[in-house]
Amino acid sequence: MKCRKCGTTAVINMRQHRLSLCQDCFLEWVPQRVQRAIEKLGMFEPSERVLIAVSGGKDSLSLWDILLRLGYQTEGLYINLGILDRDYSSISQQKVEHFAAAHAAQFRVVNVATEYGMSIPEVSRRKRGRSICGTCGLVKRHIMNQAACEGDYAALATGHNLDDEAAVLFQNALHWATGYLARQAPVLPANRRGLARKVKPLIRLYEREMAAYAFLRGIDYVYEECPYVKGATTLFYKGLLDQLEEFSPGAKQMFYLSFLQARREGRLLPFSVSDVEMGECERCGQPTTAPELCAFCRLWDVGTKD
Ligand code: AMP
Ligand code: FES
Ligand code: ZN
Repeated sequence: MKCRKCGTTAVINMRQHRLSLCQDCFLEWVPQRVQRAIEKLGMFEPSERVLIAVSGGKDSLSLWDILLRLGYQTEGLYINLGILDRDYSSISQQKVEHFAAAHAAQFRVVNVATEYGMSIPEVSRRKRGRSICGTCGLVKRHIMNQAACEGDYAALATGHNLDDEAAVLFQNALHWATGYLARQAPVLPANRRGLARKVKPLIRLYEREMAAYAFLRGIDYVYEECPYVKGATTLFYKGLLDQLEEFSPGAKQMFYLSFLQARREGRLLPFSVSDVEMGECERCGQPTTAPELCAFCRLWDVGTKD
């Protein structure tokens, strides 16, 4: 198998793109693909500051690596969730620290237990009606949004890849969850006060491509999944889409990218993100549909159930 660009031995064959590449050409191709997505979807400009949410996993650390190589102004944000099982949170934090030190990159840590008095496992144990992953997602979204707004960043970038987005799309389409479908976009504008612009620069890259990038670049990341095996259903849908991809290479990409195109061209249901009435949380000021306190602020109140 030869590299289609330079003719030397290929290290990866991407049937979905009918493309085989050698290590050097692949390590150039991935950032180019990210750059095209950033430009095509108007995610951010080289003159703007971007906050990257880094979990210590392969996708977000690779994203950070790529954006630094492309010359974007980035700073990292790591949220320590206080997951003690298998030292998950502290090992993840160490990976982020090592990466930042090796790249002389700026980052900050928000430690949930120090900042709010309880770790994620503790607070979700207390609120028995809530799943740990649901609580975790709520807390992460809130902290990311707050950090991006307070730091006046042009955008908050996350490491969601094409497989992540295709699985969520599949799940949402299966339930015709039109509200979620409306909000599932690679760029969410900061269309009201207190909401940061959210971008997903890796949406054109398969999970397998990101794993290969991290490996070939020698990025040291946490291999382990979160011990609470976040998103078991998402993993199930990913497996189904993998089967489809095996049978028809490129199917995953076509499914997701055609959704984005149809959405852009207004060929889907008349989705609208701005339909929902929102006020401001009385405590933190972030936009919320709740009458007084947002779901994040209610979480820390003793005695309330949800
Ligand atoms: P997940 O929801 O775990 O699939 O992660 C999706 C994206 O959210 C990652 O690629 C990161 O950009 C971000 N993220 C997840 N966990 C953290 C964390 N603990 N701290 C900062 N960012 C995170
Ligand atoms: Fe949030 Fe596992 S990462 S519960
Ligand atoms: Zn609030």
